[in-house]
Amino acid sequence: MIPRMELYIDTANIDEIREAADLGVLDGVTTNPSLIAREGVDFHSQMAEICEIVSGPVSAEVVSIDHDGMISEADALLKIASNIVIKLPCTVDGLKACKTLSDRGVKVNMTLCFQPLQAMMVAKAGAFLVSPFLGRIDDIGGDGMELIQQIRTIYDNYGYTTKILSASIRHPLHLVQCALVGSDVATVPFKVISQMMKHPLTDSGLAAFLADWNK
Ligand code: E4P
Repeated sequence: MIPRMELYIDTANIDEIREAADLGVLDGVTTNPSLIAREGVDFHSQMAEICEIVSGPVSAEVVSIDHDGMISEADALLKIASNIVIKLPCTVDGLKACKTLSDRGVKVNMTLCFQPLQAMMVAKAGAFLVSPFLGRIDDIGGDGMELIQQIRTIYDNYGYTTKILSASIRHPLHLVQCALVGSDVATVPFKVISQMMKHPLTDSGLAAFLADWNK
């Protein structure tokens, strides 16, 4: 089967998630502690509400920085819904926790990935998703897309099945580039999702068709 590029929304805002889900092509959701804090809501109940709206993978991030703390937070988060994916940072303890959880069959999203060896290590540990942050690399004058390409090549060279989830997407061109290099998933802020079906020539062309039809 030819794989398809999956589209996640990167937000913890319920209205945005509902509106994106209404498009009929939303595959999942990613959240992070900053996005949850922005909503000013209880973390677990917000995740439960999101999981009722979207049946695909919903990433919930731990805030512990040690292995045991990550595992006990993950255990609590996994009780929320069956589509919760545990999001862990690309640190040494995160890697160990990824291995522990993946060995138990838990889906893990390894976040804050900024270099290809982090992606290789988490794939070896059985991560379900790896999240390279391309916008944040661009922000400091680097080339975020180069990282996505490098991870794609490494994963293809060795048949790693971890999905590349391109994150920190800033604009529609990032998404085009992700699709061209074969990113498995992109997680996209609502503002960029809203731009994905827009083109001024579509609007002016449609207006002209309707004007001609009505003559
Ligand atoms: C991904 O899972 C992160 O939540 C997100 O994409 C980070 O994006 P930002 O760099 O715009 O904060």
